[in-house]
Amino acid sequence: MKIIKAMNYEEMSQLAADRVIDRVRSHPHFTLGLATGATPLGLYNKLVGDHQKNGTSYQGVVTFNLDEYIGLPPNHPNSYHYYMNQHLFDHIDIEEKNIHLPDGTAENLVKECIFYEKQIRQAGGIRLQILGIGQNGHIGFNEPGTSPDSRTHVVRLTESTRKANSHYFKSMEEVPACAITMGLATIIESEEIILLASGEHKSSTIDKLIHGDVHHQFPASLLKTHPNVTVIADQAALKMARAPRVY
Ligand code: PGA
Repeated sequence: MKIIKAMNYEEMSQLAADRVIDRVRSHPHFTLGLATGATPLGLYNKLVGDHQKNGTSYQGVVTFNLDEYIGLPPNHPNSYHYYMNQHLFDHIDIEEKNIHLPDGTAENLVKECIFYEKQIRQAGGIRLQILGIGQNGHIGFNEPGTSPDSRTHVVRLTESTRKANSHYFKSMEEVPACAITMGLATIIESEEIILLASGEHKSSTIDKLIHGDVHHQFPASLLKTHPNVTVIADQAALKMARAPRVY
């Protein structure tokens, strides 16, 4: 696991954007795994800026998002589909047919999970996956205790995750109880992974990721078994990490 220390959120976002742009430009038919949440907003902002200024094209790019809430349709302002449209897809030249998020309104959720996995396989797997990290070590919505062998599946969100996401909703009651998430095995099969972390509230999590053992109660630790993972974290997120090998 390579650790890159960024000065601040801005630099973290720029470093991640540079890598995404570089890979998209050198492989026009590229499969990109995407994340939601507060952390990748700066990255998406920079991808949009670069598309507008330098014309980086996403016409041949296929995307798969990590997760989606169950019960929220794509046009619901709190759905991850809506977030992606608003922050990225509506501002670049990606083709609608190449955008994939799990369908949280599918009648048969088990079938939807199997279908999502099939689509990823048919696209040849994910070349570059962007990840955030929850304070409890979750990646996607793979909460502590998730099996490393898990594929796309339905999860019941922990109270801490619902609480962490509740400020996007009018009230805690409105935060969906369940979601569909790519599994840990699906994520770990990506060719390259970039995990982003910003802010002091992530510093003990990042310390645990860097120095702790691989353990199923801390899902992100599985990334330590992957040959091509880069953690790009800002100074605040690295505050507690004892002498990480930084680049
Ligand atoms: P955040 O969420 O980017 O909003 O901190 C990260 C996550 O929960 O994976």
